[in-house]
Amino acid sequence: MRVCDFCLSPVEVNYDYKAMAGVLSREKIAEGPFTMWRYRSLLPVEGKEEIDIGTGFTPLLKADNLGRELGLDEFYIKNDCLNPTYSFKDRAVAVAVTKAREFGFDTVACASTGNLAASVAAHAAKANMKAYVFVPANVEPGKLVGVAIYKPNLVTVDGSYDDVNRLCAELAQRYNWGFININLRPYYAEGSKTLGFEVAEQLGWRPPDCVVVPAASGLLFTRIWKGLQELAMLKLIGPVNTHMYLTQATGSSPIVNAFDAGSLHVHPVLPNTMVTSIAIGNPADGYYALMVARQSGGGAQAVTDEEAIEGMKLLAQTEGIFAEAAGGVVIAGVKKLAAAGIIKRGQLTVACITGAGPRTQEIVSDVVRPFHVKPNLESFSEVLGVQV
Ligand SMILES: Cc1ncc(COP(=O)(O)O)c(C=O)c1O
Repeated sequence: MRVCDFCLSPVEVNYDYKAMAGVLSREKIAEGPFTMWRYRSLLPVEGKEEIDIGTGFTPLLKADNLGRELGLDEFYIKNDCLNPTYSFKDRAVAVAVTKAREFGFDTVACASTGNLAASVAAHAAKANMKAYVFVPANVEPGKLVGVAIYKPNLVTVDGSYDDVNRLCAELAQRYNWGFININLRPYYAEGSKTLGFEVAEQLGWRPPDCVVVPAASGLLFTRIWKGLQELAMLKLIGPVNTHMYLTQATGSSPIVNAFDAGSLHVHPVLPNTMVTSIAIGNPADGYYALMVARQSGGGAQAVTDEEAIEGMKLLAQTEGIFAEAAGGVVIAGVKKLAAAGIIKRGQLTVACITGAGPRTQEIVSDVVRPFHVKPNLESFSEVLGVQV
């Protein structure tokens, strides 16, 4: 069951926090593996063995060069490109596939904009399960290779992500498969929390002042917030005064539109952006994302595709991190929020870079402008204009 029969709201995993209080300590967590499974007590898994391909505990880097450009003194990058399939989706999928196996499914499936499909296919390979992954036919070719290498049943669908999702919702009624982001969505959601846990632990067990996140369905954004709240509830960190900001591309920004209109109702849009990984026109967690943005005293920021590309380049050229376009959206979003004085110079700000660039490198292929020389010193000197 993924929605309440009575009110149709998403079903939430609940924990016995009282039993955990005082038992779960910072020291106990620190004894765990250097993966997301160090937070196992706060994840909804029961069996002994998780499906682990080494996800999580990705670096939190102080980004002084980029911070200087943006006018922020305490700026950090959470580099989730360094997960096994190069995006934060591995966090959510690790929990959902572990759960699928606990429930006795032999097949997992998902609707995806690309990254989720790669992660589901990789975890299915590790778990010896069958996988059916569905993506819009316009997904970047590099992303398809990154999915197909794990040999799932890869299905490309004529239509947008929202069409793919609708088809998968129908298939989920017919086949006894574990659809990671449909019938297993509550567990998928919980895995995303670990990004929030890690940020707090890596900051020395304290919550940041601001977190900036790219949003598609809005789920990751809400789960980072939930993760921080859980740590505070268990007294592992102090009170959470974190301002949560979500970012979207203007060509697919239904959550930002609602925030700007002061509404909690998201009006679906038809996505028209090259930032395909976050191009969801009808975001399932839009309402909850809006609530978090409001409750935390944060906000929502849209950026154009051109600004996103500039953001990708700025991140690579100041910090050496090649993110996909969703990362460019975050950096461009921080730039606008800082320039407007909404995020202040002294606030400790974490930008979540959630997916890696090399799979979608055609977006920035204009950077390739090599010096072309003949294999001799004269040619080198002439072309580069330097003395040899
Ligand atoms: C790279 C990347 N970042 C962020 C997101 C946003 O995830 P969510 O649907 O949880 O908002 C996605 C979603 O597909 C993604 O692929």
